[in-house]
Parts: sequence; C-alpha cells; structure tokens
Amino acid sequence: MKRLVAPSILSADFNNLGNDIELINRSEADYIHFDVMDGVFVPNISFGIPVLQQVNKIALKPLDVHLMIVDPDHLIEPFVKAGASIITVHYEACKHLHRTIQHIKSFGTRASVCLNPHTPVELLQDIIHELDMVLLMSVNPGFGGQEFIHNTYKKVRQLRKMIDDIGSDCLIEVDGGVNYETGKKLFEAGANVLVAGSFVFKSKDPEAIISGLKQL
Ligand code: DX5
Ligand code: ZN
Repeated sequence: MKRLVAPSILSADFNNLGNDIELINRSEADYIHFDVMDGVFVPNISFGIPVLQQVNKIALKPLDVHLMIVDPDHLIEPFVKAGASIITVHYEACKHLHRTIQHIKSFGTRASVCLNPHTPVELLQDIIHELDMVLLMSVNPGFGGQEFIHNTYKKVRQLRKMIDDIGSDCLIEVDGGVNYETGKKLFEAGANVLVAGSFVFKSKDPEAIISGLKQL
C-alpha cells in the first residue's frame, strides 16, 4: 500500500518560504500540502492564489491544495491555473459536492474531499467512487500544532474498508497532530498520506523528520 508524506507549509518560515520549498524539494516528501483558510469556514486566514503561483514556480513536488473555504466552486479554476495537482474541498463547505468534484476533475486535476473530526465517514458512501483521495481531519481545521484526535484511527479503518470494498485506489490522507507515534498507527490503520506541519518545520532537521515519517 502507498505510504506518502505531505509536509504542510502552514508551519514553514514565511520570511524564507522559498528556502522551505527547496528543503521539501530535496527531501523524500511526496507532496507539498498547501492550507488555504478563509476566516469564515475556519477561524483563521492563511494564504491563497498569489502565494500558490509563486510556490509553483519552484516546487518540484505535486501541490496538494487543502481548501478550508466556503462554497469553493468559483475558486477551483484559479487554483488549478495557479498549479494545484490535487484539490481537496470540505464536505461541510459544499452545497453540491458532486458538482464540485466533477468541476475539479474537468481540469484533469485530482479531486479529494475532507471530513472534519465530527463528520462520519459513512456520508461518503455515494461519492467515494468519484474520488482520488479523502482527507480525514485529525484536529479541528484552522491551526497547526493541535493535539491529535484519537477517534481518527477508527475513521481510517472504516474508510479503508469502504474503499477496498469497491476496489478503488482512492488514497486516504490524514491531517493534524501527525508525529512518529500517531503516523505509525495511521499507516497501520490503512492511511496512505500523512500531512505534517509543526512536527516537520518546528524540528531542527525537517528533512530527517520527513525521511523518518516515510520509513514508519
Ligand atoms: C490545519 C491544517 C493542517 C496543519 C497541520 O487546519 O489543515 O494541514 O498544517 O498542522 P500540524 O501538523 O502542526 O497539526
Ligand atoms: Zn491541511
């Protein structure tokens, strides 16, 4: 089973963002996780399209864009044009999720749905066959550095079964509070992609941490 790592640049050094992108380029990371917050869906604002355009100029890894924004439909095309390889929208933020997913896929971009910690996996039953990835939040979205919510392991196992039952190669990504301990258990439960922000960028040797996560 695929085991990938996606460092989140939410915890990068914004005064030297280019250095941290180059660090990810050199590392064993598989994606660059890019957290977009609108101050409405989540109680925080991060960065958006102009920053993604700049990151895309130097990034050598696919850009995994996590949209924590309400009604994202009108912003899908600008994010695709800015360089997104994967676009994740929140189940809780889309009125017509099926339409939004088709819209993302119409550009040849990989489509993913994110579930907040309180949102049951079963709600994906009638859309899972359309998805390239599901992102499970293991913290409430909006901030880096929060404590991992342990109920996520159960959700990963349920989702793994749902995906395997239909013979899909949809990936399971988990976001929030990932470290060596939680990451190992997540991979064992059936997750494919670990997002890690503060565990990577608050360490003395981010490249070694990325490599360590890959080898869990
Ligand atoms: C939170 C973001 C995460 C965040 C994770 O809303 O979606 O991607 O960067 O941060 P850590 O790994 O520090 O929990
Ligand atoms: Zn994220």
